Amino acid sequence: MTSYSPTASVKFNPDDLPYINPRYDRRVCLITGANSGIGWFTALHLYLHGYIVYIGGRNKLKVERAISDITKEAKRRKQEKSYIYLGKLIFLEIDLLDLDSVEKSAEEFKKREPKLHILINNAGIMALPFSYSKDNFEIQVQTNYISPFLLTQRLIPLMSTVEKSRILYVSSIGHNLYFKRFSMDSTFDYHPNIIFTWLRYGLSKTSGIHYIKNLSLKYPNILCLAVNPGFVMSTNLLSHWTRLPIVGLFFWIFFQIFGFFFGVDIETGCYSTIKCCLDENLTSEKDNGKYFSTYGIEAEPSSIASNMDYAAETWVWTTTELNKRGHPIE
Ligand SMILES: NC(=O)c1ccc[n+]([C@@H]2O[C@H](COP(=O)([O-])OP(=O)(O)OC[C@H]3O[C@@H](n4cnc5c(N)ncnc54)[C@H](OP(=O)(O)O)[C@@H]3O)[C@@H](O)[C@H]2O)c1
Repeated sequence: MTSYSPTASVKFNPDDLPYINPRYDRRVCLITGANSGIGWFTALHLYLHGYIVYIGGRNKLKVERAISDITKEAKRRKQEKSYIYLGKLIFLEIDLLDLDSVEKSAEEFKKREPKLHILINNAGIMALPFSYSKDNFEIQVQTNYISPFLLTQRLIPLMSTVEKSRILYVSSIGHNLYFKRFSMDSTFDYHPNIIFTWLRYGLSKTSGIHYIKNLSLKYPNILCLAVNPGFVMSTNLLSHWTRLPIVGLFFWIFFQIFGFFFGVDIETGCYSTIKCCLDENLTSEKDNGKYFSTYGIEAEPSSIASNMDYAAETWVWTTTELNKRGHPIE
């Protein structure tokens, strides 16, 4: 079960965000990667706020266990709050390392729901060794950027008819590691992995911000936002490093110390996403394409991520590559 810290920060209170009663106001949300970490708490808060939450994941067992744990935790928290009407939690199969699975998942979702109010592209991987997916993309780029792009494009028709729909992309402060604009064809498959893997992560998260900026121009009525949760050192994201034989222990100690000084707990890590999902003061007219950091504080992404010429190049490259692989984007 995902651990959680009861000591959520006082700087942000999810109770200040509007609660709905799903019997009278049915609003649907899809979040990827909510069987652990930041996504787990994001799903918990949306469920507590009355949303019908689809959890997109590649492992049915893991997602079902998360649904059971979130339900228990929500019922515990609801006891103290009579104004809460719980939503619903539903599993949706999706493997972001397989573009056909992404297409299938979008089709399945469309069969079940005529409308989508909030889409949260949260699932991600970080700093893994170089490898290609079966679709011939570098794995971090596909998981963190290409598949969220494809999923979003397929689901936009369900969102454009919904008033005040929102698309969120969970980026990272790590997008800054993509410190220079390289060609989008660069795969950075050099050694040592411990250095170049961060460049691949930075590229994927910068591309996600580009995508949000492009969407905000193409779909001005949908509120499109990128978020950075902050440093959350106790999720599974770093498990490749902490599970390495012998040196894993040193990585674990280093991450714990780093997290103690600069990090936030997992629940606090979901606050930027929750705020961007539910805060009614954020509107597509004045906030579209923005980037919000820890606790939902508005921030500026890197100059590369903010550059609209680069964003346009990223769009052209992505649609070309998806077209080549038989996943046309209009
Ligand atoms: N933790 C941080 O400090 C931090 C900082 C900045 C940004 N972020 C971003 O926050 C997001 C959530 O990360 P987290 O820290 O909560 O890590 P986490 O606990 O590892 O959660 C990642 C989630 O993504 C899912 N996922 C990974 N690959 C997938 C695939 N191919 N198909 C479907 N789902 C997949 C995982 O599912 P499985 O269990 O099946 O692998 C898991 O549910 C990521 O996008 C990450 O880059 C995290």
